[in-house]
Amino acid sequence: MAQRVLTGIKPTGMPHIGNLLGMYRPALAMQDEAEGYFFVASYHALTTMRDPALLREQTLDVAANWLALGLDPARSVIWAQHDVPEVTELSWILACITSKGMMDKAHAFKDAVGKGREINIGLYTYPILMAADILAFDSHVVPVGKDQKQHVEMARDMAQRFNHLFGETLVVPAPKIREDVATVPGLDGQKMSKSYNNTIEIFLPPKKLRKKIMGIVTDSKGVDEAKDPDTCNVFGLYKLFATADQQADLAARYRAGGLGYGHAKQALFEVIDSQLEAPRERYNHLKANPDEVRTILADGAARARVTARDTLDRVRSAAGL
Ligand code: ADP
Ligand code: TRP
Repeated sequence: MAQRVLTGIKPTGMPHIGNLLGMYRPALAMQDEAEGYFFVASYHALTTMRDPALLREQTLDVAANWLALGLDPARSVIWAQHDVPEVTELSWILACITSKGMMDKAHAFKDAVGKGREINIGLYTYPILMAADILAFDSHVVPVGKDQKQHVEMARDMAQRFNHLFGETLVVPAPKIREDVATVPGLDGQKMSKSYNNTIEIFLPPKKLRKKIMGIVTDSKGVDEAKDPDTCNVFGLYKLFATADQQADLAARYRAGGLGYGHAKQALFEVIDSQLEAPRERYNHLKANPDEVRTILADGAARARVTARDTLDRVRSAAGL
């Protein structure tokens, strides 16, 4: 069987450059060597979202992000999670072989408890649905940022447990995490995340993108003072986009003094903007033509369902259903 790569992202807000570097780019780069299965995790979003119009809008938006960033629907499959309801069936079957103790350890749930949020059962069993996403499509590789590693490992455990109980049925997947972009820093230097309000969205118009970048938190050193690139949030992001030569050049200017943070931010803006220009044009086209996105999603869902149905047939039969 060809290697299959699968990953998803929740439509809980506008995707940001942490998602771009940690997930979209590494995942899409695998399209040449593996069969790509990429989706919009709408069921997962429902663990927190309560606005139907917004969920619909953001589901389309995240699909447009995938396509604008290079997902090729002729080679890869793209769909909205809720259009392949087979995953909820697999989720139930996996729930029946998963210990409560494992769920108690899951980060998504523990973070919410830590923040004093009300916990629904969907959030509590979030990793089981995520395992079903991965296992329903016989995925070998799951490219994610570091924060999702635990969830992918739980999916591995569930596949192994199912196979142990009922015989070899499920492919055991592995996470793929690029160490250099495992945790992209946000405007304030913490992990960039929608939940921390420190994001730089991928498809902001250039003026807004520049404004966001100008808001990155730095220390208060004056223009003339020598600066340390290695502890600077601006440089931390710059090195994720710039070539080795560009990085060496800007680092030297930091250390020499005479470079203000405004100049460093301008350099960061330019390198990001130049890389996002072409995808932004595709994104704007798709936003103006949502039916194009809907058609691609419907076609993808039909293809994804064939794969999921096939896995479910094997799983049901193995378990005696
Ligand atoms: P958020 O934390 O903003 O809600 P998501 O949970 O929707 O982001 O993440 C979608 C994907 O992007 C996941 O694979 C996640 O690991 C990755 N990702 C999110 N934030 C970052 C980051 N700051 N650095 C690297 N990868 C990230
Ligand atoms: N839980 C992931 C996140 O919050 C999104 C997701 C859902 C996912 N199902 C998945 C990622 C399956 C990889 C594989 O980012």
